[in-house]
Amino acid sequence: MSVLALHNVTAGYGSDAPILHGVSLSLEAGEIVSIIGPNGAGKSTAMKAVFGLLHMHGGKVMLGDEDISGVATEKVVARGVCFVPQTDNVFPNLSVQENLEMGAFILDGPLDERLAHVYGLFPPLLERRNAPAGVLSGGQRQMVAMGRALMLDPEVLMLDEPTAGLSPKYAEEIFGLVRHINGSGTPILMVEQNARQALAISHRGYVLVDGQNRHTGTGAELIADREVAEMFLGG
Ligand SMILES: Nc1ncnc2c1ncn2[C@@H]1O[C@H](COP(=O)(O)OP(=O)(O)OP(=O)(O)O)[C@@H](O)[C@H]1O
Ligand SMILES: [Mg+2]
Repeated sequence: MSVLALHNVTAGYGSDAPILHGVSLSLEAGEIVSIIGPNGAGKSTAMKAVFGLLHMHGGKVMLGDEDISGVATEKVVARGVCFVPQTDNVFPNLSVQENLEMGAFILDGPLDERLAHVYGLFPPLLERRNAPAGVLSGGQRQMVAMGRALMLDPEVLMLDEPTAGLSPKYAEEIFGLVRHINGSGTPILMVEQNARQALAISHRGYVLVDGQNRHTGTGAELIADREVAEMFLGG
C-alpha cells in the first residue's frame, strides 16, 4: 500500500476547466519522489490535490488505505501530511521561533522537544531564532519553512520547489537536508526545477506535461533517458 497516491486525478480550480487530466502518482514508504516538468505543467496543482484545494472531476487521492479526495486541508494536516508551499512560506514579521511555533499550533503541550529537534536539523536557525524571518537569506527562510512543517513530525512531507531562487551552495545544502530528513524515515514528495539534482537524490520521479503523466521511472532511469534529459534536464 502506498503512503500517498493520486489515482487518475482530473481536477482544477473552481468551475474552470480541469488542469490535471488523469494524473497518477504514488509515494511509497521510505521514498523520495520528485515531480518535474515545465512551468505551468500542473506540478503545484498536483500537490494541492492532496489538500482538498481543487475541484475534483474524477479519480481519487489516497492516504494509506483512506480516500482523502476533497477532504479539508486541516484534516489532511491532522493526519500527518505537511506541505511547504512554493511561495510565501514564512511569516516575514514573525521571528524564526514564532514561525516554528506556528507550525505546531495544533499540538497541545510544550514544544521544547520539537523545537530542539528542528534546531538540531537547522543549526543556523537556532542562532537567528529571535530575528524576523523576513530578514533571513533565502536559504535560511527555506529552512524556516521546512522546519515549520517538521514541527509536526509529519508522516509525509511535501515540498514545492524547496531550492527555488537559492544559490547553488544553498540548493546543495537543502538537497542534503532532504536526504537527511528522508533518512530518518519520512517519505518526501517534492516538486523541483533543479530537476537533475532532485532526481539524483530521488528513488523515483514523474515528469508531468500539460497536466498529464509523460514519463516515470527511478531517478537514475529518468536521468539516463535521452528524451527526458534533452527535454527536461537541459541536455
Ligand atoms: N489558483 C489558481 N486558479 C486558477 N488557475 C490556476 C491557479 N493556480 C494555478 N493555475 C493554473 O494551473 C496551471 C498549472 O499551474 P501550476 O502552478 O500547477 O504549474 P506548475 O507546474 O507548478 O508550474 P511552475 O513550474 O511555474 O511552478 C497553470 O495554467 C496555472 O495558470
Ligand atoms: Mg509550481
